[in-house]
Amino acid sequence: MTTATSVKERSLLGLKDISRDEIDSILNRAAYWEAQPDKVIPVLNQKFAVNMFFENSTRTRFSFEMAEKRLGAEVMNFTAAASSVEKGESIYDTVRTLESMGVDAGVIRLKPSGVLQELAKQVSIPLVNAGDGNNEHPTQALLDLYTMKKNFGELKGLTVSIIGDIKHSRVARSDLWSLQKFGAKVQFCAPPSMQASELAQYAPYVSMEQALKADVVMMLRVQLERHHEGLISSNAEYREHYGLTEERASKLSGHTIIMHPAPVNRNVEIDDVVVECSRSMIFNQMANGVPVRMAVMERAMKG
Ligand code: CP
Repeated sequence: MTTATSVKERSLLGLKDISRDEIDSILNRAAYWEAQPDKVIPVLNQKFAVNMFFENSTRTRFSFEMAEKRLGAEVMNFTAAASSVEKGESIYDTVRTLESMGVDAGVIRLKPSGVLQELAKQVSIPLVNAGDGNNEHPTQALLDLYTMKKNFGELKGLTVSIIGDIKHSRVARSDLWSLQKFGAKVQFCAPPSMQASELAQYAPYVSMEQALKADVVMMLRVQLERHHEGLISSNAEYREHYGLTEERASKLSGHTIIMHPAPVNRNVEIDDVVVECSRSMIFNQMANGVPVRMAVMERAMKG
């Protein structure tokens, strides 16, 4: 694994600006951690990690906690709703407070985009992005790439269709930036109200019929909590035009895998039975998140 030394190098703010070699190094280290028979290998003994979630999470939060504990780190969890943020304390003051107590690295999820980059310049501990607005979700993309590599051996030459609420998706962005570094072809499919026009120069928008011909069909959650105006007229209509229904899934090529970052709106963007079918990698993605985040936290904290 590449030895990253400076705080900046040990942080992981996004995948757009890190090299393919660096990503490869993390994925290879994740494979190492996945292969270990022992659940706890305390290489981060005496280190303190804090998980700071200013926006709700299930998978990412617990996956980071699991990863940190499997590496033997002491883990602190911060939830905005139960903190002095409720009294008006800023994100900066919150992170500086935890930093001053001696934590060695922070995992952070933020509602706004663009704040994390500035924050990282103001603190002296490595920060790991657990999702910032609709900007990036680098560890989700890393576990997505890891899952694709496990299925296909390599990423080069794969066609990956990302279908759904592209506009509000940090996962779509991190997947796009990282997959293109490896020579995978990314294409989007979304209703006009959920397209991100600024991404069209990097990946084409294709029809649903075309999107379903890919090696990887990545469905995205309709992110109702980020819709300021009604972007879909009804769940049923969305499912009819953009949902991975049982019927559409039955027509996928034999080797095609189905992915979704979750949480899933069952029977909206993906049918219940499709979530559970043998070509669905959704729960494998969650499992793969733990070794991937072990690699990321080791990189952040071991130095
Ligand atoms: N995939 C993902 O980020 O899920 P959570 O919001 O539950 O962390």
